[in-house]
Amino acid sequence: MTHPAGAVPSVRVRAPGKVNIVLRIGALQDDGYHDLATAFQALSIYEYVTATPAPDFSVEVTGTVALDRVPTDGRNIAIRAARLLARETGYSGGAHLRIEKHVPVTGGMGGGSADAAATLVACDALWGTNIGRDRLVGIARELGADVPFALVGGTAVGTGRGDVLSPALATGQFEWVLAISDAGLSTPEVYAELDEHRARHRHDIAPAPAAPSVPNEALQALRAGDAHMLAEVLSNDLQAAALHLAPGLGRVLELGEGNGALAGVVSGSGPTVAFLAATQDAAIGLQVALSAAGLVAVRAHGPVPGARIES
Ligand code: C5P
Repeated sequence: MTHPAGAVPSVRVRAPGKVNIVLRIGALQDDGYHDLATAFQALSIYEYVTATPAPDFSVEVTGTVALDRVPTDGRNIAIRAARLLARETGYSGGAHLRIEKHVPVTGGMGGGSADAAATLVACDALWGTNIGRDRLVGIARELGADVPFALVGGTAVGTGRGDVLSPALATGQFEWVLAISDAGLSTPEVYAELDEHRARHRHDIAPAPAAPSVPNEALQALRAGDAHMLAEVLSNDLQAAALHLAPGLGRVLELGEGNGALAGVVSGSGPTVAFLAATQDAAIGLQVALSAAGLVAVRAHGPVPGARIES
C-alpha cells in the first residue's frame, strides 16, 4: 500500500492478459455455459488497477487501447468485483478504481477478467480484508469464467466453464506476437455462432466433444518449453466461428504465417490473433512485418504471474 504522510492510501495491482493455447469446446449446458477444456498462458500485456478509499464505488478508465466499449457505471466488471468482495466480507465502505487498460477490449485476451482479478487483490489489500487466495478464487469464479485464471496466472489447464484450474508445468519462455483488431467480438455471439455452425453441419463435422480435454502433446510441448512442438498443437474450436463473424481474420492469419510465425491462432473468442515465434528476433521481425501491413501488432512473452500488488 502506498501511504506517504498526509496522502490518501492507494493500492496498485497489475494483472495479465491471456492466450488460449488450446481451446476445446463441448456442449452447451443448461446454465448457458459450454463445458470446455483449455490451456491458458498469462502474457506480459497488463491491466493496472489503482484502488483508493471512497464512500461508494466508482471507476475511471484510461489506457492505450480503444476504450469506447468499456462501461464506466455499475456494469463495469471492476465495480462488480469490488461490490461482490465488499458483500462477501461485510466491508461497509467503497473504493474508487482507476483502470489503465493495455489488453484489447472484447479482444479474446481476458482484459475485463484481468480488471476484475486486479480489483479483487487491490480492494482486499486496501480494505485489509485479507481473505486469502482460495476465497478470492471463489469470488473470481462468480464474476466470469476467465477471472480465476487472471488471479492465478502462469500456465494452467482450465476445465468446467474454464474456471476450474490445475497448474500446467511450463519451462522456459514463449514469444508471442498479437495482432489486435479494434472491431471487438462479443463472446456470447461467437459461442452462439459455434452452436449454429455445429447444428447446420451436424452431418459433416465432428460433434461437440462429450468430455473435452487438452491433448497430451500440448502439455508435453509446454513441459519441454519447445515452441516448435507447441506450434503444432495450437488450436481453438471457436476459431471457425470467429472467422465467420470477422472474415478479415483469415488474411491476418495468412500474413503472420507468411512472415515468420511458427503458427497462429485466434485467441479465445477473438478477434485478437496470437502468433507463436521461435525466438525473440523472429517475434520482432514478425511484429515489423505485421505493422508494415497496417496491423496493430504487440509483442509479449509468457508465462507471467497472475494479479500482483505493484511494489
Ligand atoms: O463468464 P463470462 O462472462 O466471461 O462469459 C461470457 C459468455 O461467454 C457467457 O455468457 C457465455 O455465453 C459464453 N461462455 C460459454 N461457455 C464458457 C464460457 C463462456 O458459453 N465456458
